[in-house]
Amino acid sequence: MSLTTCTVHVTQRPERAIYVTSELARALRLGKAKSVTLKLGIKHTNAQLKILKKDGKHAYFPSTLANAIKIPQNSSCMVMCNNGRDIQFGPLIGIMTGVTGSGTRPFGSRTELIRSYISAGTDRSFMFAFSPQSVNWSQETVVGYFLRKEGGWTRKTVPLPDVIYNRLPSRKAEKMASMDSFKQRFLRRGISLFNWSFFEKWDVYNLLEGTDAFKHVPESHINPTSSQIKDMLDKHKFIYLKPTGGSLGIGIYRVTYNAKRGYYARFRRSGKNVLLRFNKFEGLMNLLNRQKGRLNHYVAQQGIRLIEIDSCPIDFRFHLTKNINNQWVVAGIGAKKAGKGSVTTHVRTGGQLMTPEQVLKQIFGSRGDQVLDTAKETAIKLAESLEKKHRHMLGELGFDIGIDQNEKIWMFEANSKPGRSIFKHPALKGQGKATVNHIFEYCQYLSRFRPRREA
Ligand SMILES: Nc1ncnc2c1ncn2[C@@H]1O[C@H](COP(=O)(O)OP(=O)(O)O)[C@@H](O)[C@H]1O
Ligand SMILES: [Mg+2]
Repeated sequence: MSLTTCTVHVTQRPERAIYVTSELARALRLGKAKSVTLKLGIKHTNAQLKILKKDGKHAYFPSTLANAIKIPQNSSCMVMCNNGRDIQFGPLIGIMTGVTGSGTRPFGSRTELIRSYISAGTDRSFMFAFSPQSVNWSQETVVGYFLRKEGGWTRKTVPLPDVIYNRLPSRKAEKMASMDSFKQRFLRRGISLFNWSFFEKWDVYNLLEGTDAFKHVPESHINPTSSQIKDMLDKHKFIYLKPTGGSLGIGIYRVTYNAKRGYYARFRRSGKNVLLRFNKFEGLMNLLNRQKGRLNHYVAQQGIRLIEIDSCPIDFRFHLTKNINNQWVVAGIGAKKAGKGSVTTHVRTGGQLMTPEQVLKQIFGSRGDQVLDTAKETAIKLAESLEKKHRHMLGELGFDIGIDQNEKIWMFEANSKPGRSIFKHPALKGQGKATVNHIFEYCQYLSRFRPRREA
């Protein structure tokens, strides 16, 4: 197998021959003029090969051939050749998402997120975003949004790709049974699809149960009964109640038990932090049962006494990605300090973004680095365990990680479609770039467009 990069040009020549420069032919170990198969994504076509005595690595497609395999644009990409006659261009990578806008913002508020992934593939792949509605199964094509060199977006019909990264934005849409069979149709065609769906908190707990990493997950119960809540409060003194399919801290209660003063419930209502006290357990249960329909689809989780700065709890977002060797790496870490009186550390409820080094130095002094290294190792162990138990491929994860006052590491939540807000911190921008690079390289791994180690 030989792999290199080249520039693809579409020309107006009439014949069915592809012209490649002698330098490219050498790099791909192609023989003299003969017939070859050209591939892009899952499409292929036969063509005559002609060699141009010219420097540089270029491939010139007459428009008939370019149309046959649907080359989207003149651009640089990778190219590999297996046996001197199958020439594959690519990788062709699709990010599956919702098209919710138009013009310069086709993906609405997520346009920047999608752009950052696609930019990482510029000049070394054909990378695009698409919505499930634009797949044409009978033609085996999809309408992709590509970034133009001059800026802005352009739509092109391309073959079904080599790899799909699932970034569908709606939990509700994704849960429909039809979505599952839709995704299976890609797998049946040999197309890799990673990050299959959103995680629910309870599913993650179940997946990790019995693995090495389970000791880092706080005790949890789904749809807790009042006696389970009471037992957990007796045992742990405080608990979190969280919607299993929730995010952004919405609908979360923090409940505390104090032998002398009774029960406290902290939560957010109408944009404000609320704190209520109840003498009796029944009073607390009345509140919980009144709001949000009897804690249905809620997880009760052991509360963790987080490390604090200025009496505000701190937790961390660990952003993990796979790399080109299919290994997990901790590519970015942000620390989040809770706003005063807030149940969670989200920035939208007054939380403050910091670097982990800043926080851990302040709390653990010179041992801060060591604590961070241990947390990174734990995060990798969690990702490996989760992936082993999950039925589908994973390429990117966002863990909400806490360190308790005894330095023990805990994982509250695993996100399979992690946001990128931590990378707004000026000190974390470089890590943000690293994450999208890794995702590109993981796609390279999945599509086999990567250098092989010589035997
Ligand atoms: N068991 C817990 N102990 C202590 N703090 C917690 C616990 N669970 C959640 N939190 C705090 O609440 C935040 C939000 O919880 P999380 O499980 O991430 O839910 P969401 O999906 O709403 O982000 C966490 O980042 C953490 O600061
Ligand atoms: Mg969270």
